[in-house]
Amino acid sequence: MCGVFGYSGEEKEDLAGYILEGLKKLEYRGYDSSGIAVFKKGKVRIIKEVGELANLRKRLKGKHLSGNLGIGHTRWATHGGVTRKNAHPHTDCLGKIAVVHNGIMENYEEIKQKLLGLGHKFKSETDTEIFPHLIEEKIKKDRNLSFSEAVRLSFNQIEGLNAVCACCSDGEIVAFRKGSPLVAGLGEKGNFVSSDIPGLSCLTRKIVILEEGEGVSVTKERVVKINSKTGKRALAKETFVDMEEKEAARGNFPYFLIKEIFEQPEVVARVAASDKKEIKKAVEMIKKSWGTYFTACGTAAHSGLAATYMFSEIAKRHVNFAFGSEFPYFNDFLVPKSLLIAASQSGETMDTLEAVRAAKKKGAKVLSLVNVPSSTLTRLSDKTILLKAGPERAVLSTKSYIAKLSFFLLFAYAIAGRLNLGIKILQETSKEMVRMLKRGLEAKMKKLAKKLSGCEHIYIIGRGVNYATALEGALKIKEASYIHAEGFPAGELKHGVIALIEPGTPCFCIIAKDRAKEAVLSNAMELKSRGGYIIGISSERQSVFDVWIQVPEVGAASPIVSIIPMQLLAYHLTLIKGYNPDRPRNLAKSVTVR
Ligand code: F6R
Repeated sequence: MCGVFGYSGEEKEDLAGYILEGLKKLEYRGYDSSGIAVFKKGKVRIIKEVGELANLRKRLKGKHLSGNLGIGHTRWATHGGVTRKNAHPHTDCLGKIAVVHNGIMENYEEIKQKLLGLGHKFKSETDTEIFPHLIEEKIKKDRNLSFSEAVRLSFNQIEGLNAVCACCSDGEIVAFRKGSPLVAGLGEKGNFVSSDIPGLSCLTRKIVILEEGEGVSVTKERVVKINSKTGKRALAKETFVDMEEKEAARGNFPYFLIKEIFEQPEVVARVAASDKKEIKKAVEMIKKSWGTYFTACGTAAHSGLAATYMFSEIAKRHVNFAFGSEFPYFNDFLVPKSLLIAASQSGETMDTLEAVRAAKKKGAKVLSLVNVPSSTLTRLSDKTILLKAGPERAVLSTKSYIAKLSFFLLFAYAIAGRLNLGIKILQETSKEMVRMLKRGLEAKMKKLAKKLSGCEHIYIIGRGVNYATALEGALKIKEASYIHAEGFPAGELKHGVIALIEPGTPCFCIIAKDRAKEAVLSNAMELKSRGGYIIGISSERQSVFDVWIQVPEVGAASPIVSIIPMQLLAYHLTLIKGYNPDRPRNLAKSVTVR
């Protein structure tokens, strides 16, 4: 969460605009507010605004702020409300040092009290603001201290998982990371820092990867690495990263969300065409392990849960699942021969990374499924399978979920010695998805969205692998449209939740042609008997359905096709309610705090 970006280099006519362009690629990390600090001839100009980056752009209209050094920030609020005052950059008492930050400075309260005692004045409610004051205090105490040393010593004083980026008037940006992501980049006419590698796409391919506890001094001429503990400096070595240069464009689609939903058949076809050797290597790791555990968060977690059913049914293999945030309390039985499979679109989700780090401490191996190449998770893993779903720009995960489900299905078939069958199922599924989308599914879901847009609650049930689909469908609906939606294992309703069903309550029932079919049908009947409005997602019409949403019959790939109607419903509910489907409130695409 929060995106930081910085540039030090040749003077730019419109440096403010340049930094805005950098921030645009990081906006998915948070859009509560944004701000920039632009330095020219020792003078700094800071401009901030609440809300999306577009609001900051409006404030900057007509102001061509030139300069040779600047930093910018896009915020997902943690400490302090969503106000202009709390927007970054934050400054010291003299307004000379500017700081942007991603993370949480856990001991900020204690440090703030000390700084207040020393006479420092604070303008915001954020934890971040202590940082420029700490730097100021260090320089005040020791006039010979360099700026970068003052930043390093300040960084060592803060606790938590943080990436901090500071600059003052002398052309240098100093940034450190621990836990939170941060990279530097070497450009032709200047150098950069950014929260992630995609933030530097179109600017440079020469990336400086920062390991835990490392920092950088970025000037026009060079990028120097700094060890946060010892202060030792060394010229940074770059890595060439092949990035998808083409910035994801919406094409003819009004929003990224709908574009990405429609890209899903192609994603499944791409997974089906994966290098078999890579799949087999991953599967060897699973076969060799003494216990396989899945971990992930949010939508990615639902793919992990689905995988546990696929592994059981197709591969006849027992695996465990725990959310990333729960995994550290659930890992006592890991041994060096255990395997953790971590799935993440961004590869930067803090809870997933923490789970991986905990597993590594126990000596376990890590296999990851990641969409963003060169992300932190890929670097922590023993082996990574890239999802190749293409850039996912909508905050809601759709196509990367489908890619993860597809890979898990291939893994399960490969373990069972039937990889070719898995590939064939995916190829067929991809074709069926194209047909399904062409047959007017979207129009049907739009019509249904009109009917359901006034509802307070929506319930979704499924059994087996489609219990995960029920959870994912509910997540899509609630995070985009803010309508309360809950997914349940169909059999659990009668143990309590059925009390919530009233005449007309919308109940989605996911009914695949599998061994759970008859049981879910009975549960649908139980809901109908209490007045539930039954919307069936199924390849076959059933008399219990009030509305039938037809999906193709694709055997074990049923979770891949069954989620699509609910993705489309979430999209149209959101439009009807007048919200932005690409930017739901309170969310960020990459969750880098725990
Ligand atoms: C929901 C959504 C989130 C993410 C979760 C994990 O639509 O996008 O629930 O799935 O934050 O993110 P990644 O996959 O980047 O680890």
